[in-house]
Amino acid sequence: MTAFELGVVGGPWARRLAPRRAWIDELPWDEQLPEDTGPARVMWTRTAFNEYASAAAFAEVAAHLLAAGAPIDLVAAAGDFVVDEIVHAEAAARLATALGGAVALEVDLEKLVRPPVAGSPLVRAAELIVRVSCVGEALTVPILKLSRDVAGSPLVSTALARIVADESAHAQLGGWFLDWADGQLDDDARAHLGRVAGRALRDLAPVPSEGCRAGLGLVDCARYDPVFAAAATRHVARPLGERGIVVPAADLAAVGAAA
Ligand SMILES: [Fe+2]
Ligand SMILES: [Fe+2]
Repeated sequence: MTAFELGVVGGPWARRLAPRRAWIDELPWDEQLPEDTGPARVMWTRTAFNEYASAAAFAEVAAHLLAAGAPIDLVAAAGDFVVDEIVHAEAAARLATALGGAVALEVDLEKLVRPPVAGSPLVRAAELIVRVSCVGEALTVPILKLSRDVAGSPLVSTALARIVADESAHAQLGGWFLDWADGQLDDDARAHLGRVAGRALRDLAPVPSEGCRAGLGLVDCARYDPVFAAAATRHVARPLGERGIVVPAADLAAVGAAA
């Protein structure tokens, strides 16, 4: 385990990244924020790490798409999404700082992404992209929109609006890959991918959290849970089902979602 922190070396590498992260500097940082920001500081610190982990996930997706011989525009998009997620990580870290400072977080950087287990390169790529794009990113979009709507802060809601615009594209990549791979996925592969999606849903399901406050990026449980359940049905199970990948009913029921 290691203390989570973000650093830059600057020089040509900062100039290369500058156009992608310029929106962060344009956020209304001079906003007067409330004094009691403890839970939001914790949440934005964790969000910075989750975005960092999303960067690792898309780096793995890109590598597996290359190994599967996927279309190069899909590979390029996955590689490009690494940059999006790195920028999101910086934005989240800056928000934690603005709210009073990031909290200490011990993380394991060697376990950012669970390796896929399928036998063929194509199904391994599909496994990763189902987990990362078709489930993770697809659920993130409606949750972030809710978070944006209840933020109660122009700084936080503007940042969330910018992030969610990127996440929408991240959520679409999976469907495009599955449509390309359609003729190469047999029944066993589809059943495997359905189970992968079901497990990913359970892994991401809401857990009772302390306080369940709303605002500054936090969402109260009473609003979060139904949005998550509806998104699991509408944005995960349904699009996968249309592609012959059935999320097990038990997994959907476990997260309160309809089949
Ligand atoms: Fe992100
Ligand atoms: Fe994302």
